[in-house]
Amino acid sequence: MGQKTLLAITPGHPGQLEALESDFRIIRLWQERNPEAAIREHANDIIVVTTTLSPVSAKLMQALPNLELIGVGAVGIDHIDMQAAKNQNITVVNTPDVLTEETADLGMALLLSLSRRIVEGDAFVRAGLWKRQSFPLGVTLNNKTVGIVGLGKIGQSVARKCEAFNVKVAYTARSPKDLPYEYVADVIDLASKSDFLVLTCPGTPETKDMIDYNVLAHLGERGFLINIARGSVVKEDDLLAALDNKIIAGAALDVYADEPNVPEGLFKMDNVVLTPHIGSATKETRRDMGDLIVANIRAHIHGQDLLTPVRM
Ligand code: GLV
Repeated sequence: MGQKTLLAITPGHPGQLEALESDFRIIRLWQERNPEAAIREHANDIIVVTTTLSPVSAKLMQALPNLELIGVGAVGIDHIDMQAAKNQNITVVNTPDVLTEETADLGMALLLSLSRRIVEGDAFVRAGLWKRQSFPLGVTLNNKTVGIVGLGKIGQSVARKCEAFNVKVAYTARSPKDLPYEYVADVIDLASKSDFLVLTCPGTPETKDMIDYNVLAHLGERGFLINIARGSVVKEDDLLAALDNKIIAGAALDVYADEPNVPEGLFKMDNVVLTPHIGSATKETRRDMGDLIVANIRAHIHGQDLLTPVRM
């Protein structure tokens, strides 16, 4: 084997690759004129792959016979072929915890944007309409019910923040948790009792297309959907139809089925708020995520315990 090499599929988080420059030769795949040739040329030397939200496929892993570690600069690992990693004995690390509060904050920001029509209000002022028209009323959060789908760390943080807004919290998860919120086993029942349905579950085969037309119909014409989880959790065509047919009141989406492609049908809808997958996207949190990936990779090459390995 030649020089220890790290294949970076994406630029990663601030400072991340620079910090690893003294430990590795780094291939920055997005800068390569012929990415496949660059991978072939260094295939035997690549022991670490890093990515953020770009996939790491079985095919790529199989092309790298000495790959030991995949560093994922995200908490979600739905874009990593975990079975292939397991088969090849490749360790995967990700960035849980450091992004929990930030992502939950975005959930609250989207909730408030919808309920108080903030994005619509901004467009209204900029268009000079204020002098001619009154602005439509929003809806209160007080005493409303927020239904959280997936009460993991991010879901629990959303729940805690909701408490400060005097909002009732109900949730669905694989099993009830020892927390002071109402557990509802079925997502349809949760939708029925929710004014705001907030998705915070991971993207897995079990959650794929979980939010379909039927769930949205139960959320109802005064209900709002907020997705800070994964696009795959929502049947996007059903959501478009539900919005078009006024089956639900509105939606705020940070994640989509085929990023960065967003269904254009959403663009003309006033009752929809769209953000470009920015749950963890603050300077501070992205730096913490980069630092965590670097610390994991360093621990690995020095034979120390990993900080945040993904359980296989
Ligand atoms: C972002 O979506 C993440 O999984 O960290």
